[in-house]
Amino acid sequence: MNIISGISSQTLSCKISSMLNICPSLIEYSKFPDNELYLQINDDVNNEDVIIIQSTTTSLDYICLLQLIDACECAKSISVVIPYMGYSRQEKRFKKGEPISAKVMAKSIECDKIYTINIHDMNIMNFFNCKSYNLNADVLLGDYIKNLNVKSPILIAPDEGATEFVSSVANIVNCEFEIFKKIRIDGNHVIINDMPISCKNNSVLFVDDIISTGGTISECIKILSKNGFRDLYAFCVHPILSKNAVLRLYNSGIKKIVSTDTIEKIQSEISVAPLVVNNIKL
Ligand code: R5P
Repeated sequence: MNIISGISSQTLSCKISSMLNICPSLIEYSKFPDNELYLQINDDVNNEDVIIIQSTTTSLDYICLLQLIDACECAKSISVVIPYMGYSRQEKRFKKGEPISAKVMAKSIECDKIYTINIHDMNIMNFFNCKSYNLNADVLLGDYIKNLNVKSPILIAPDEGATEFVSSVANIVNCEFEIFKKIRIDGNHVIINDMPISCKNNSVLFVDDIISTGGTISECIKILSKNGFRDLYAFCVHPILSKNAVLRLYNSGIKKIVSTDTIEKIQSEISVAPLVVNNIKL
């Protein structure tokens, strides 16, 4: 078996390789004069079972994934792990004239098996042309939160889309949870419905699949501030943390942001490596 890591998931690939007791293949990366990406896999993957691990957070990451798949054409089998799949929030046509970008991305990935982690919308799994599995990091997040030992935790789903995930994490932590209702205006602006949630004596832990601009959580905090709270934490699976999200959350009172390593950031304290390893072995 060969582990082939894309540019964006090198640390996670090393963790997965170490758990499988194999060395990840070395890939040479460079740029052509016009900035196009060049890569070459150093190992011979002819007739091998390969596992390519690459989050597609940026367009270049996505191109890198397609190049790696093509470079492994002579392999016996190709499994692709996409810890964070970019464009997954464009999973339907919201307005006339828009593409279903998640479908475009999914359909272009040709391999034997695909693994995603907490994909933004389960309908995306039907866009893939091969067997696809969506893994759930709920237990990893729940165990991490349990071990934090915060006083009187209450979990908050910042929108209804996070309900199932948050209820499952709350079940592991053994605490209450609440759900806000959100209306998205555009990629940068949201409106959160005012709700009488009282957490005066609670540590508030926001849990979402993605934190991008931090706008959703910041708006929720404005509403919670009316009644007060003990401490504020933000947890997510995929830490996009674009633009000034970290500063924005800090200024809103968030004490700590913790995520998994589907996107590799300083906040990625929870590794999804065991989740991937347990499932690719099946
Ligand atoms: C959207 O439905 C997701 O679950 C997240 O709530 C969203 O991506 C967060 O975005 P932001 O941090 O920009 O408010």
